[in-house]
Amino acid sequence: MMTGDPKVFTADLVIKGGTIVTDATQYRASIAIKDGRILCIGEDESMPAASEVLDVDGLHVLPGAIDVHVHFREPGYTHKETWRTGTASAAKGGVTTVFEMPNTNPPTGTVSALQMKMEAAKKAHVDYGIYGLLGEENLEELDELMDHGVAAFKCFMGNTFGNLPAPSTGAMLEGFEKIAARGLRISLHAENASIMRRRQLKLQAAGRTDPLAHLASRPPVVAAEAVSRAAILAEWTGARIHVLHVSSGTELRPLREAKDRGVDITAETCPHYLLLDETAYQDVGSLVRVNPPVREKAHQDALWRAVGDGTIDMIATDHAPHATDEKLQDDIWCADCGFTGVETQMPLMLTQVAAGRMTLNHYVKMTATAPSRAFGLYPHKGVLQPGSDADIVVIDLQREDKVQSHLLQSLGSATPFDQTPTKGLPVHTLVRGVFVMKNRELIEETSGHGRPVGRIQHMPTPAPRNLETTTAAITSRPEA
Ligand code: NCD
Ligand code: ZN
Ligand code: ZN
Repeated sequence: MMTGDPKVFTADLVIKGGTIVTDATQYRASIAIKDGRILCIGEDESMPAASEVLDVDGLHVLPGAIDVHVHFREPGYTHKETWRTGTASAAKGGVTTVFEMPNTNPPTGTVSALQMKMEAAKKAHVDYGIYGLLGEENLEELDELMDHGVAAFKCFMGNTFGNLPAPSTGAMLEGFEKIAARGLRISLHAENASIMRRRQLKLQAAGRTDPLAHLASRPPVVAAEAVSRAAILAEWTGARIHVLHVSSGTELRPLREAKDRGVDITAETCPHYLLLDETAYQDVGSLVRVNPPVREKAHQDALWRAVGDGTIDMIATDHAPHATDEKLQDDIWCADCGFTGVETQMPLMLTQVAAGRMTLNHYVKMTATAPSRAFGLYPHKGVLQPGSDADIVVIDLQREDKVQSHLLQSLGSATPFDQTPTKGLPVHTLVRGVFVMKNRELIEETSGHGRPVGRIQHMPTPAPRNLETTTAAITSRPEA
């Protein structure tokens, strides 16, 4: 036995006898946790003494999911969701870090709005990043938002819930210039606002109110045009970008081309684009209304291929809860867009793992490692290794269940996946070594345990380009 301070050799918790899963491999080992971080990983017999031992024989131990696309609605729309209910849903879904979107009221486009959100976020069960808004009217606020700790930016190129006007291409370029200088990633709702507006008005004038009219108003070109345009601006400015909710095969070509040109661009898709197709408009009606829309089967097939070949980097949920009556409307244009997702992602996608459509390693890569790397959290999060935050989900791959809307923690729990059978379920969730879910039970007292990721976030050195042409550069030149 070694000598020295005995404290060094005791752990707070040992997770004993499970199978640890990384993005590349799996192996049987135990994990010791101390002060919120992983102390060591190894044979059961090599584990230090611990205050608590959790036996997970037969279960799999994964890095908790990092969901870079959730809407928690607070401040402003707390009948749809709050930080407490949204992060409770995350905890029960095996999600240990979330990045929360700025289309709240007020929108997170000013420092005072950011401070309101930071206050609301103090009730979080899980760790979080807060998105700042990049809009037409707040370019002068961007630097201050970064000084005050936004984790990334969100730019709504197309209209969606919250009615934040899409910035002009000119404002986007200026915003990209400013953010490129600081290195944070900009996530894009990549849909072309003017194409959608014209088509929706014409569909409405023609009397279309059926669910499929929503799909007709937003054909794939709407998304592909926006991805291409954003990639050109990112390439020019050196800004890092992330394409949210890729919904079509059509977006994949501009995405691949941008990656080939060396643009720092990442992309996500969501369970609903991988699991639903246009038949959902018939089956569940307005419940499936979401931006961008769920599309024809051929798009779904292309997305699965892109998940397999790495064109799509990660799976996020676009957790977008609304009250049930706001979702169920006879006139499709009156139904709010989006639905709950942060709690259903893991069981739904593990079901696909069980069906052989994706390996468990690839699942870990897409839900933990890739988002961690893209948003500067690696190696603190998204990986299980000594020194990392003990953000862990223990899953039971054999456990069969079904999605049940009324059992979700989310306030806006209506989902097109209600009653969908699943195989594979998160059983325990730990955030920095603390159980936020244990044996499928939410630990209520952990509301407030969540911390902002700023503590550990570290983006690579900024790589701005074409600096001599930036708006700041051309307006600060001395007169000739
Ligand atoms: C989202 C929402 O409700 O905030 N809705 C949606 O249809 N996806 C906004 C968004 O991500 O576009
Ligand atoms: Zn969006
Ligand atoms: Zn969204």
